[in-house]
Amino acid sequence: MRNLTQPDLALLAFAREVKRNAYAPYSEFRVGAAVYASGEIFQGVNVENAAYGSTLCAERGALMAAVAAGCKEIDAVAVVGDSESPTVPCGACRQALTEFNPQMRVIMGGRSDEVLVMGLDELLPEAFVRGYLDQDEEQGDEA
Ligand code: THU
Repeated sequence: MRNLTQPDLALLAFAREVKRNAYAPYSEFRVGAAVYASGEIFQGVNVENAAYGSTLCAERGALMAAVAAGCKEIDAVAVVGDSESPTVPCGACRQALTEFNPQMRVIMGGRSDEVLVMGLDELLPEAFVRGYLDQDEEQGDEA
């Protein structure tokens, strides 16, 4: 757990604000996210689909927007969901975010005033990162 800072609260406000645009007619669980990337802020919401598996989470929406804009130095992500206690990123989002900075700050909020701040490496220890692929290359393909 990390201490909550003013920049954390500012990023959280962007996530809370954009949550209103969530498209969640199936779960009715709205999520907003914001990433601080290369000095800019990008927002995302969960976008559900009649084919449930085609749903995209808010965090990955924000991440894709940042990368598409060429902003890949991601320092922090904030997520706000409809749960009473702070909403934590799902496993797939943890993995997707880890690609860009395993140590990024993760600021989490919900409907209550409670806010959690953690390092992404606390939420996803022993993550699979590109270094494992490079090791495979060094050893040669034995299959
Ligand atoms: N959801 C997110 O947007 N982010 C998460 O980290 C957890 C889950 C969304 C996906 C789905 O639209 C709804 O919340 C319920 O699972």
